[in-house]
Amino acid sequence: MSRPSPVLGALDAVLDKVVPAGYSSIGPALRRRWWPADPPAHALVGKHVLVTGASRGLGLAAATDLARLGAVVHLLGRDQSRLDEAAAGLRLAVPNADVRPETCDVSDLDAVRAYATRTLEQVPALHALIHNAGVMPEERSESAQGIELTLATHVVGPLLLTELLRPALAAADDSRVLIMSSGGMYSAPLNAALADDLQYREGTYRGIRAYARTKRLQVLLGEQLATRLAGDGVVVHSMHPGWAATEGIAESMPGFARAIRPILRDARSGADTLVWLTAAPEATATTGLFWSDRHPRSTTYLPWTTEDPVLRRKVWDAVAALAGIDHAPA
Ligand SMILES: NC(=O)c1ccc[n+]([C@@H]2O[C@H](COP(=O)([O-])OP(=O)(O)OC[C@H]3O[C@@H](n4cnc5c(N)ncnc54)[C@H](OP(=O)(O)O)[C@@H]3O)[C@@H](O)[C@H]2O)c1
Repeated sequence: MSRPSPVLGALDAVLDKVVPAGYSSIGPALRRRWWPADPPAHALVGKHVLVTGASRGLGLAAATDLARLGAVVHLLGRDQSRLDEAAAGLRLAVPNADVRPETCDVSDLDAVRAYATRTLEQVPALHALIHNAGVMPEERSESAQGIELTLATHVVGPLLLTELLRPALAAADDSRVLIMSSGGMYSAPLNAALADDLQYREGTYRGIRAYARTKRLQVLLGEQLATRLAGDGVVVHSMHPGWAATEGIAESMPGFARAIRPILRDARSGADTLVWLTAAPEATATTGLFWSDRHPRSTTYLPWTTEDPVLRRKVWDAVAALAGIDHAPA
């Protein structure tokens, strides 16, 4: 991977810590001067890529650019008509795209099992599984299996879907699992309070807090899956997109989205690193890292902070139990 000069590298690191600069459209505007090259134009021709949460926002923007690179793109969401509309728009943008809108509520473990069974029959080799679906409910609610909704959507469902699609991932060369987390995870360290109450039953529920906690857990999930899937030749990375103009951010945080509208990235720019990690050969040189703007970042705001391995193990065991997968070491 190409590296910026020491001066540009230092500037890049400063942008990472000065959140409004690094997360806004200023981040990629500067960093594109030194970040690694775009993937080859036909990098994904004929390769199957599955994007959850692809009916709008960052998922749809990523799916569109993945189709431009030649991928067969599976668009996943909860509503077939929204997916069909998204697929129609994508085909207008990329006329020869092979795009397949498919319903699967990733928070519902029965739906995930049924979807994975169908997919394994139809897709023998999966180049990339992209966990992008995201929610920030105002009130505490639960999935079909009674799991707190942000935990089910961001962590438990993605873990089960990954586990079930392992044979297809293992059958592809250079395959990847990518997890769209959020910079909001920096506000939710992995501590005993989180590990003891993964389902947010204690205290007053705040959607933004539930979101940040489960976005933190997604980073841990990426690290654990990286170890678990290494023997299959599958790499796993998580990332954050900065702040991007989507319906999701406008609905979940309307005041914030309005205040920073002039410097929000567009959805395509927010999805850039996801597309790059899916298509660039360099992304398979490492595994288990956390990225933004095509560069690995620290997973804690203070890079020297370390997470307690006992808590990490406890969380992994609990999440694996909820997903109904074996507790074998990650
Ligand atoms: N935009 C930002 O600035 C920003 C910043 C940090 C992180 N992110 C992350 O980026 C991802 C995409 O965000 P966005 O802003 O594009 O959000 P968005 O506009 O709200 O889109 C979310 C997508 O997820 C789908 N979805 C929600 N729950 C689902 C479920 N249970 N199963 C399947 N699909 C589901 C939605 O489709 P249906 O409703 O049709 O099912 C929709 O396509 C999220 O994970 C978010 O946390 C975004």
